[in-house]
Amino acid sequence: MKVEKLVVGVIGLGMGANHLKGAINYGAEIGGICDTNPEKLAKALEDNNLPAEIGTADYHDIVNNKNINVVIIATPDQQHRTQIEECLAAGKHIMCEKPLALTRDDINAIVKAVEAHPECKFMIGQICRFTPAFVQAKKIIEEGKLGDLYFVESEYAHDYQHMFEANPTNWRSDPDRNGVVGGGCHAVDLLRWLVNDDPNEIYAHGTHKLLPEVTYDDANLAILKFPGNIMGKVFVSTGCKRNYTMRTCIYGTKGTLIFDNRSDTFQAFFADDEGHGAAEPEIIPVEVNNHNATAEFKEFADHLVNDTPITTTVYEGAKTVAACLAIIESSKTGKIVNPDYNF
Ligand SMILES: NC(=O)c1ccc[n+]([C@@H]2O[C@H](COP(=O)([O-])OP(=O)(O)OC[C@H]3O[C@@H](n4cnc5c(N)ncnc54)[C@H](O)[C@@H]3O)[C@@H](O)[C@H]2O)c1
Repeated sequence: MKVEKLVVGVIGLGMGANHLKGAINYGAEIGGICDTNPEKLAKALEDNNLPAEIGTADYHDIVNNKNINVVIIATPDQQHRTQIEECLAAGKHIMCEKPLALTRDDINAIVKAVEAHPECKFMIGQICRFTPAFVQAKKIIEEGKLGDLYFVESEYAHDYQHMFEANPTNWRSDPDRNGVVGGGCHAVDLLRWLVNDDPNEIYAHGTHKLLPEVTYDDANLAILKFPGNIMGKVFVSTGCKRNYTMRTCIYGTKGTLIFDNRSDTFQAFFADDEGHGAAEPEIIPVEVNNHNATAEFKEFADHLVNDTPITTTVYEGAKTVAACLAIIESSKTGKIVNPDYNF
């Protein structure tokens, strides 16, 4: 069923403030915005010239507002399951921030809940699928310019120290909010999307040297085996001493790509007709837009209004979390883990 008019509610106004702008840029009506923090709520209302009466500190006001038909959930990961279930019960279409959830029980329950409400459309906010450099890489791979892929690697290196200094009990310190699921899901999802398949064997290590506030490993390294003899590697560090990056390399039989989410150029090496690799990269300019919430919301809106397909289904969100949980399990046990993709 196509949706004629989008009336959007946003719950959580950290990353949610970007999604609010994405919805406004699309031209959607904003029916309500919510944050328990009054300063964030006031700022979002003011920044977007929204009337005070559509702001609330209680997300149930969004869920119960019959005028709102689309809800963007951008609250801490631990809350996603409950809010998704409540929004589905109220008949809302949902775009939920990544990761889908943090635990196996929660991802299973979310998939079942979405399946039980076919009248509601659901999108997981794996925003890297809208980052211009990553979109460019996907296009080059699909055009066959790299030949057969044999090695793919990505990293999520993001220093969380300032967040814990501001608040040592930040929701990211929850042991379930392991950096691998919380942030590493970006790198895992990116590789799954670029390869267009799921890793079926994972072996990983972890260390903990950087963030005293957390009990989980703050750095992990995972080796992934994809179907088609494609090797993968994911590095996650949430206390790293560098600026945020998702440095990514894709190796194929005809070429190699090197790029990240923060640079305005993209390196491509293409082999010549004799198969010789290029000595120098082609430097391709790309827009820097690490949180491309406008393109992300547009994909969901087009899905609702025109029934166009989305790549970021609930199953994609669940599979990415399942692979992340396998990385954590392998880091703990020292054993190869086969991710469970049955939900
Ligand atoms: N796509 C990305 O690149 C990206 C980046 C950062 C965070 N995230 C995800 O976005 C979500 C939010 O993360 P964040 O960085 O914005 O966190 P944040 O802590 O900066 O902001 C969350 C906001 O939600 C509010 N909030 C918490 N519980 C609430 C509730 N019950 N009702 C209403 N408001 C509530 C808080 O007051 C806060 O303002 C998480 O799922 C996170 O993993 C995604």
